[in-house]
Amino acid sequence: MSIDTLQTLFVSAILRTCDLNLRTILAVIKMFKAFAFYTAVIALGVAVGVKFYLESVPEMPKMDFQRWWGDGQKPDKEDQSIRPFKIVFNESMIADLKNRLKNRRPFRQPLEGVQSQYGINTVYLEKIIKYWLKEYNFTERADRLNRFPHYKTRIQGLDIHYIHAKPEVKGKKVLPLLMLHGWPSSSKEFDMVIPILTKPRDDFDFVFEVIAADLPGFGFSQGTNKPGLNPLQIGTIMSNLMRRLGFKKYYIQAGDWGSQSATHMSTFVPEEVLGYHINMPVSSRPISLVKFFLGSLFPSLFMEEKFVSRIYPLKQFFSYLLRESGYFHLQATKPDTVGVALTDSPAGLAAYTLEKIGVCSNRDQLDTPHGGLDNINIDDLLDTVTIAWANDCIVTSMRIYSEAFVQPELFVMHNIPTPVPTAAINFKYEVVYQPDWILRDKFVNLVRSTTLEFGGHFAGMHTPKELADDVFESVKEFIQFDAKTQSKRT
Ligand SMILES: *[C@@H]1O[C@H](CO)[C@@H](O)[C@H](O)[C@H]1NC(C)=O
Ligand SMILES: *[C@@H]1O[C@H](CO)[C@@H](O)[C@H](O)[C@H]1NC(C)=O
Repeated sequence: MSIDTLQTLFVSAILRTCDLNLRTILAVIKMFKAFAFYTAVIALGVAVGVKFYLESVPEMPKMDFQRWWGDGQKPDKEDQSIRPFKIVFNESMIADLKNRLKNRRPFRQPLEGVQSQYGINTVYLEKIIKYWLKEYNFTERADRLNRFPHYKTRIQGLDIHYIHAKPEVKGKKVLPLLMLHGWPSSSKEFDMVIPILTKPRDDFDFVFEVIAADLPGFGFSQGTNKPGLNPLQIGTIMSNLMRRLGFKKYYIQAGDWGSQSATHMSTFVPEEVLGYHINMPVSSRPISLVKFFLGSLFPSLFMEEKFVSRIYPLKQFFSYLLRESGYFHLQATKPDTVGVALTDSPAGLAAYTLEKIGVCSNRDQLDTPHGGLDNINIDDLLDTVTIAWANDCIVTSMRIYSEAFVQPELFVMHNIPTPVPTAAINFKYEVVYQPDWILRDKFVNLVRSTTLEFGGHFAGMHTPKELADDVFESVKEFIQFDAKTQSKRT
């Protein structure tokens, strides 16, 4: 029985009771059919339009590689020298720091029965402060950092600090690797990774010379007094740094804000970047966002079942984001306000930055006093805080969050895919996770993807060996990829 016959039967049944005109009813049905048809056509058109819009690639914004970030006007000539640099935690800085740590007011105790759920546990913080005062050996820690050669050079008006560690090796290719950290870190984060990357391995015919730079306004790199220094602009500074050092082509390893800059570099100077290893892989293309939401309907269709819980259900993911991202909103809107307190109080600076380092190392440990901090060595934690304190760079480093959200050029850049061969490593407690089908929107040549059941956001401090191993394996695959695609990149 056809639909039409059914309709007729149905309609005449109604007619018998309602005494209406059959022709009128059939005409109405016809109208509905036409309506449904046109609705479907329009819906399809809209869907195709949206898909086209989402997948269309905007034009690359014009980049100014000489934009001046120093104070005042750009001079005619800039000092381009490369100056050796030694880290010194000097006596007056240490005396002032210790004085402030000793003369602080007592902390408020945590609420009864509460560990780290309300923020840093102040009983635990007390232990850290005591260690900083009594045990942390400033000289020894500075000496340790100085086992690598450090330099500063002036780029676009700012003094940029970096470690340049070369391997001692014969008979192996030496590949330049730029490493970029995030907040609240510095090149110190790579302290334990660098020796592994610069050590030759029997089964690899290459080894790395590492250039680990401090982002401007972080660590020992100068911050700017001009608005607008966002991750894309930082990318031009890093590209200029590599040129200054004589590297026209290089590899990059990066996470957090460093990976934002590096992702932009892979997009606006792809011919410079031979391969990109990323430990916080994110595609911010609009289509990726749509996929992220669509994926929540049938997650296991798009990603391995065992990784689904890293982002779905959405309710759980958003409640975690909301719980842990207060600092982000604050820094993206009013970094200078909270910066006053953090510039004045080393205990406050430690509490504020360490709480986030703990959570990002293991977000499931809020019911412990350390809130995740026990996953990282205390001297490494305090190096990070000491560097931020000694350089008075907490405000300049926090401002990156604000700069990243007021620039329309970033939105455009995010939507342009990069051809650079890329490898993603997803540690278990990384802040965000995207499956490969989303990452490929941005990283079209994603040649390797590793997802681990351990580790966190500060991979260099937390799991240096696993990070370095994956860099070696990934670069091998970048080289194979280039050979396969017969690119003239290497
Ligand atoms: C700190 O380290 C330096 C250098 O290793 C050493 O000479 C000094 O004795 C240490 N200070 C203390 C208090 O242990
Ligand atoms: C000691 O270091 C601080 C920065 O950490 C610096 O501001 C100060 O000028 C230095 N003092 C001396 C005497 O070198």
